[in-house]
Amino acid sequence: MNDARLLRQPERGEERQLEAAVQRVLEGYYEADAPWDTGVSPPELVAVVEGPGALTPGRVLELGCGTGTNAIYLARHGWDVVAVDLVDRAVRLAGEKAAAADVAVRFLRGDVTQLDELDAPGPFDLFFDLSCYCGIPPHRRDAFAAGLSERAAPGARLLMFGYGPGAFDDTWSGVTADELRTRFASWDLLDATPGTNDVPTWWFTLRRSTGPIVSA
Ligand SMILES: C[S@@+](CC[C@H](N)C(=O)[O-])C[C@H]1O[C@@H](n2cnc3c(N)ncnc32)[C@H](O)[C@@H]1O
Repeated sequence: MNDARLLRQPERGEERQLEAAVQRVLEGYYEADAPWDTGVSPPELVAVVEGPGALTPGRVLELGCGTGTNAIYLARHGWDVVAVDLVDRAVRLAGEKAAAADVAVRFLRGDVTQLDELDAPGPFDLFFDLSCYCGIPPHRRDAFAAGLSERAAPGARLLMFGYGPGAFDDTWSGVTADELRTRFASWDLLDATPGTNDVPTWWFTLRRSTGPIVSA
């Protein structure tokens, strides 16, 4: 084994350790009442669904759906919803809530950075992410962006809420507009509006670009 491989191995090990640690923390949250699980859809999503210039209902993929509040809201407003979360218990609770509400949502337990392993081919007109991406380990984020780009209908929107860097007591979580511009290179960042939280947060809107115009 040469020196370069010896140097790389601990990095990959650390990446796997971070993934496992994040999953354990998330599972722990859902053993009690997760603090983010308010049961209320944010006004930024309501504006996209019901406001002036609302999008026409189509197919939506929710990333990190938790216990399904927003997936159920979208389904109630005519959207065909697929919703994914990493945590078994969250997905189970989401299914129970949807059944009680008598709405059809396809909840999938899985990793949003590995969408190829899930039955979620799209194409999707809307992606909704309420503080999922900002907590995904940085080395998995390219795969997140690729998975959405491959499943995006022309002109699809991505509505994302994210915590900024430094919001939490770690060295890696958070998202910035610059990061999204780089990582979602085939998308246009239409809007970045600061949130109203005590720590830095953002609402981002991106649109899948239709690609370069090729002249005849
Ligand atoms: C801060 S919580 C927000 C949950 C939900 N969006 C809400 O607002 O109620 C982030 C969610 O993303 C999920 N999540 C984090 N990483 C994920 C991944 N790689 N794949 C799927 N879900 C993930 C977590 O399990 C958690 O439910």
